[in-house]
Amino acid sequence: MKRRLASKKTVVCVGPGGVGKTTTAAALGVIAARSGLRTLVCTIDPAPRLADALGVANLGAKPSPIAAATAAALGIASPDRLHAMRVDPSAAFAQLVNEQVADPELRRHIFGNPLYRSVTTNLTGSQEYAATLALYEIRRDGAYDLIVLDTPPTANALEFLETPERLATAIASPAVQWFARPDPREKRFSLKRLGVGGAMVIRRAGRLMGSQFLDDLGAFLLDIREVLGGFLARAREIEAVLKQPDVGFVLVLTPAAAAVSEALYFARRLRETGSPLCCFIANRTLPEPGNHTAASLRASLLSLPSLCDLPKEELDLATTCLARMAEFLAKIARAQKQELERLSREAPGIEITTVPLLPHDVSSIDSLRAIADRLGSG
Ligand SMILES: Nc1ncnc2c1ncn2[C@@H]1O[C@H](COP(=O)(O)OP(=O)(O)OP(=O)(O)O)[C@@H](O)[C@H]1O
Ligand SMILES: [Mg+2]
Repeated sequence: MKRRLASKKTVVCVGPGGVGKTTTAAALGVIAARSGLRTLVCTIDPAPRLADALGVANLGAKPSPIAAATAAALGIASPDRLHAMRVDPSAAFAQLVNEQVADPELRRHIFGNPLYRSVTTNLTGSQEYAATLALYEIRRDGAYDLIVLDTPPTANALEFLETPERLATAIASPAVQWFARPDPREKRFSLKRLGVGGAMVIRRAGRLMGSQFLDDLGAFLLDIREVLGGFLARAREIEAVLKQPDVGFVLVLTPAAAAVSEALYFARRLRETGSPLCCFIANRTLPEPGNHTAASLRASLLSLPSLCDLPKEELDLATTCLARMAEFLAKIARAQKQELERLSREAPGIEITTVPLLPHDVSSIDSLRAIADRLGSG
C-alpha cells in the first residue's frame, strides 16, 4: 500500500454509504504520513468520535496538522506530516463565486439569495461537487505530496465520478443557457421570456411557495449567469484532474454479493473513462472460519477457570448456542470469501486488501492505528 500511495498525488476513497470510506481515508493518511509524505486527509462529515480522535472536531475548511500526541500514538514521526480538514460545501462554493465575480455588490446579492444557499447545500451532488472543488484548490496549491480525499455518503459509488460531468451537462443544457443569456437590457427576470407553458408552471410554483419565491428565483437566475461559465469551466477542469495518472481511486466495499457486483461495475466504468482503479479495500471481513466442533467448544469452555465448575446442563446449553453461532459465522465468512474470489476473478490485476471487522467502531486512536497497520501490511 505504501508503494501504491507513493506513486500518487491524490487518492480518492469511493464506495457506497457506510462501508468505511472516511475510516479508510484516515488510515491511508496515517500510512502515507508514516512513510514521510506530507499528507492531507480531506474528510467529509467524519463520525464525531473519529474526528475527535484525529483532533479535527472543530476544524473548518482549512487544513491543520494533527496534534503531536496523536501523531506519536499513530506512529508518525512528525505531526506536520499529517494534516486534516473537513470539506465545507458552502466554503468551497463561496470560493468559486469569489473567484468568478469581481463586483462585491453582486457577490453579496448571490450569497444572500435563499435559492443560492439551497442549490449549494441541498441539491443532489452538491457535496460531491464541493469535495472536488476543494480537491482542485488544494492540488493547485501544491503544498502536499499526497491528498487523500474522502467522498460523501452517496448511495452509489459512481455518483461521485459522474458529478462534474452531470453538473457540466446540466449547466450546458439549452434551458440553463437560455436563462443565462437573457436580454442584456433586462434588469429583472421576466416571465414573458418563458412562453405560456413555462410561465404557467412558474406562476403556479409562485402561488404555492409565495411571491417571494418568484422574486428569489428571478434574482437568482439573473445573478447566477455571472458564475455559470466559471462553474462549467471548473467542472471540466475537475473532470480532467480526476483522469490524471497521479490520481488513484480506492474502492471501499463490504464483501457482500451486491457490493461486489457494484464494485465490478465501477471498476469497468473507471477503466472506460481512462482512470483505472488503484485497488479494492474489502472492509469488515470476517476471519477464516476455524474448525469449531461441539467437542472443541466444550473443551474451550471447560478450560476457562470461571466455567470449569458449570453444571452439565448449562455447559451443554452454552456449547449448543456457541456451536450454532460458530456455524452461522462460518457460513458468512465462506460467502464473503467466495465473493472476494469472484471480485478477483472478474477484475484481474486489481489488488484486494482485506480489513477485518473490529469488535467495535473505529473511533479511537488505537482502532485507527489497528486499521492503518492492517492496510499498511496489505
Ligand atoms: N473494520 C471495521 N470494523 C468495525 N467498524 C468499522 C470498520 N470500519 C469502519 N467501521 C465503523 O463503521 C462506521 C462507518 O464507517 P465510516 O464512517 O468510515 O463509513 P463511510 O463509508 O465514510 O460512511 P458514510 O458513507 O456515511 O460517509 C463507523 O462507525 C466506523 O467506525
Ligand atoms: Mg464518511
